Amino acid sequence: MTMDGLEGVVVADTQLSDVDGERGRLVVRGHDVEALALAHDFEAACALLWTGSLPDPAAHAQLRAALGRARVRAFERLLRLGDALDAGDGMEALRAALAHLRASDIPAGELHAELTAAVAVFAASWARRRRGAPPLAPDPKLGHAADYLRMASSQGSDLARSRALDAYLVTVADHGMNASTFTARVVASTESDPVSAVVAALGALKGPRHGGAPGPVLAMLDEIGSPERAAAWIAAELSAGRRIMGMGHRVYRVRDPRAAVLERATERLRASGLRSDRLDLARAVERVAVASLGEKRPERRLAANVEFYTAVILDAIGLPQELFSPTFAVARVAGWLAHVDEQMRGGRLIRPSSRYVGPQPETPAAA
Ligand code: COA
Repeated sequence: MTMDGLEGVVVADTQLSDVDGERGRLVVRGHDVEALALAHDFEAACALLWTGSLPDPAAHAQLRAALGRARVRAFERLLRLGDALDAGDGMEALRAALAHLRASDIPAGELHAELTAAVAVFAASWARRRRGAPPLAPDPKLGHAADYLRMASSQGSDLARSRALDAYLVTVADHGMNASTFTARVVASTESDPVSAVVAALGALKGPRHGGAPGPVLAMLDEIGSPERAAAWIAAELSAGRRIMGMGHRVYRVRDPRAAVLERATERLRASGLRSDRLDLARAVERVAVASLGEKRPERRLAANVEFYTAVILDAIGLPQELFSPTFAVARVAGWLAHVDEQMRGGRLIRPSSRYVGPQPETPAAA
């Protein structure tokens, strides 16, 4: 029997995160994602994923400094990336740029910081290049989110927006056996190296059924424009056989809990004085989309996934649409690296089977 899309197949025991699709709960190393994302920064989430516990202030400062130094080293590498950052697509640029790193050149103790920093610096530098601006050097004294925002956004960074970006990065840093994490684990299971695992995972994240959805969600919100146009727009999409981006999930049968965290974080950003007109529109479109999808497919509950509010929060923070997927990678690299470690510590080679349905040779097999 084939398991279409491996749905429901358990491929690893993990201590990293648990996705409860029926109840809509995400637990990251013993912490509910809401509690984690609204109270901790990206450095804390990295420490949690990489070491198993939230850091004390000294460990937090150490990791923050290590990431800062690694961002500076990543910036120094920009000159040696050839034409990688010329790609028109941010994920293609990231993939090409990261492929320049060599795990054998990086001391084992610095690999996590080095790769995590490189994703942020390369993504931000790509975005500036697209705007015709030279790359902005990192400020190693800043937190990772604030510095990424400062380097990537044409509006620079401030406390409220950095905090919102931290909430986003923590929310999406890890999420069970999603397609890109599985990809990273398959590569790690061959005893390849972490750079290869991250480059492969990035390729999986790029697709619109995974990390490529938030850009199209923003485009959808802009096309809809106002709540009263939502029903007709969605009906037309569905009757044309197209999927509504930001809706549906392989595991969740209820609303993705990360959608709620990002909605709250956007609300918090708005309370600090920043305008986000798209938040109200997104809520209205979500209501209509859920109702329309429910009518069309009553047997399979389709609700908002993380990408729906990713589009809203990253837009409110001031990141351009073309940076949405690369920014997902800025966060998820932390989870990939934790999974690579876990896989390398004890996992077996991941090597499933397939059922051959092609033609047989004309000559019968020798007895
Ligand atoms: N809009 C319309 N229909 C949808 C849908 C959506 N967003 N998501 C799923 N469906 C439909 C499918 O067309 C399919 O119908 P069919 O059986 O008639 O072909 C049915 O629901 C089951 O979908 P399936 O593709 O089996 O679900 P999956 O578990 O393989 O896919 C996603 C999950 C996330 C890929 C899918 O829901 C999707 O494409 N969503 C939109 C893209 C997106 O938001 N991606 C980000 C994910 S975090």
